[in-house]
Amino acid sequence: MEECKRNLVDEEAKASVDIWRYVFGFADIAAAKCAIDLKIPEAIENHPSSQPMTLAELSSTVSASPSHLRRIMRFLVHQGIFKEVPIKDGLTTGYTNTPLSRRMMITKRDGKSLAPFVLFETSREMLAPWLRLSSVVSSPVNDSHPPPFDAVHNKDLWALAEDNPCFSEMINEAMACDTRRVVPRVARACDDLFDGVATVVDVGGGNGEAVGILVKEFPWIKGFNFDLPHVIEVAQVLDGVENVGGDMFDSIPKCDAVFIKWVLHDWGDKDCIKILKNCKEAVPANIGKVVIVESVIRENKKTMIVEERDEKLEHVRLMLDMVMMAHTSTGKERTLKEWDFVLNEAGFARYEVRDIDDVQCVIIAYLSSMEHGPEPTIEDTRGLNPS
Ligand SMILES: C[S@@+](CC[C@H](N)C(=O)[O-])C[C@H]1O[C@@H](n2cnc3c(N)ncnc32)[C@H](O)[C@@H]1O
Repeated sequence: MEECKRNLVDEEAKASVDIWRYVFGFADIAAAKCAIDLKIPEAIENHPSSQPMTLAELSSTVSASPSHLRRIMRFLVHQGIFKEVPIKDGLTTGYTNTPLSRRMMITKRDGKSLAPFVLFETSREMLAPWLRLSSVVSSPVNDSHPPPFDAVHNKDLWALAEDNPCFSEMINEAMACDTRRVVPRVARACDDLFDGVATVVDVGGGNGEAVGILVKEFPWIKGFNFDLPHVIEVAQVLDGVENVGGDMFDSIPKCDAVFIKWVLHDWGDKDCIKILKNCKEAVPANIGKVVIVESVIRENKKTMIVEERDEKLEHVRLMLDMVMMAHTSTGKERTLKEWDFVLNEAGFARYEVRDIDDVQCVIIAYLSSMEHGPEPTIEDTRGLNPS
């Protein structure tokens, strides 16, 4: 009884502080965006003496008012994004980067920085629909009520991108920085992925970043980057990669294997099954496979989430599911059961799921069945260093 009372008091005390996260939580993101906009991580990284950078040096380099910058830096140091350390003479302090602030370098294309993603998600276009999240939840099933993004912009995400080249570029850059981060991990964890495969089509491949990495990691394959015509028009021109414009709902170019990352989650089950059927049509029945890079929401938390990193990754997946609700009409992150449903409906004979210790998993769907097909579970292919 006493312990029960103590727990209630503890929960009350915790709640009285935690509630402020929801009052001012946006400050975390806004201050990070400010650091990216001002290129503060780059200024500190490029500081000539490789000494910690004083406030005076930093404010003159990024052309910012010292009094405002000091407060921004105080906040970001408190968040653990930068460090503030004593300088040699011990009389003053200076700022240094951390692994987290280096991931906010907009000028770095190193497979770690997610700065373009921060700028995309904090753009006016992406922020406005969040304020209407409750309307999508409260609208009756099958109601023709437009989803939050469409209600704000009078069109869906892809139509807005088609009409607005700057916004389209922001999407492509945001997706590409995640691709630089995760596709090399996929290749390392699944080095047998394209054994016996000569041609690979990346469906919804954006600016071609993923297939560009795949043709380097698996040098025997010829890559095709397939996306909507306005995306292909500005896609990178890369060795070993052909850019092809089209609509995945019509048909997908013929190949030995399809690669499809972060496309299926944009769509509800009906559209997802249609895309998967078109992927199936594109590959040969005997050796064909479809490699899907997407999240799998863990259903049985007790057995599947064992470490703090797992817990944090699951939080990212659940946040991403909220993003799908705010920004797409029917898109969602799927559980294993939900993936099982769409893959079976699309007519795949079997599939396997490889856990790469990341936000996304690799789901490999096959057209031909094996005699004793394994039960689909999430196979742990970890042992990779966290990136
Ligand atoms: C969330 S982005 C993912 C981009 C890329 N696969 C990645 O992960 O870096 C979804 C992509 O699907 C493309 N897309 C949307 N509708 C499409 C369609 N009907 N046919 C082909 N591609 C489409 C978009 O242009 C966009 O590049």
